[in-house]
Amino acid sequence: MNKINIAVDGPAAAGKSTIAKLVAAELGMVYVDTGAMYRAITLAHLTQPDADFETLVQNIDLKIINDNGQRIYLNNEDVSERIRENDITQNVSFVASQKAVREKLVALQQAMTAAKGVVMDGRDIGTHVIPDAELKIYMIASVKERAERRLLDNQQRGIEANFDDLVKDIERRDQIDMTREISPLMKAQDAIEIDTTGMTINEVKEEIIRLANNIIR
Ligand code: C5P
Repeated sequence: MNKINIAVDGPAAAGKSTIAKLVAAELGMVYVDTGAMYRAITLAHLTQPDADFETLVQNIDLKIINDNGQRIYLNNEDVSERIRENDITQNVSFVASQKAVREKLVALQQAMTAAKGVVMDGRDIGTHVIPDAELKIYMIASVKERAERRLLDNQQRGIEANFDDLVKDIERRDQIDMTREISPLMKAQDAIEIDTTGMTINEVKEEIIRLANNIIR
């Protein structure tokens, strides 16, 4: 059995975290949601809007705990639910475009993947964080379907949302993420693209497990 890393990238609300979590559980790997890390820094920025990003990330204590799913702690406070709220979602792509923020988080993420056995989802995982990942997935879906999925997800979390606002938010975030200067969202040359429009969660999961098993065995 080979120990591998799996990189899962793609635009907003494409189902990356849902699928990556299931794949990690089935393969006995560790799941890391890097979007949550950018969201936690965004929370710190909104709390201290006057701090420059370099100072902000230097003084931050960010902990990722994998205990039956990922929990994220900012300065010893569990912010796992707080970072899903709308003020964070609206500001995260701006914060994620900052050089000091990316340098800090990419270093943390690379340390987490050094021993392999990680399924990591984000925007720059296959291109930048783990360019040598044994399996790279680029997950896409139509904007309509992504907004529908996010609407359901927000309703389940008790977060206020409406379809048209979600479409606008997804398109705006994709635009910022794809055009930013530092490691923009793009498909790695050696990534396998999966268009999940019209596919069930189980179908997508099974497809990735099949691809992973070809490499592990
Ligand atoms: O995955 P999620 O939607 O929670 O990510 C929130 C935001 O964090 C993205 O829209 C993007 O701006 C940023 N992000 C990033 N690089 C990653 C993961 C997330 O820039 N690896």
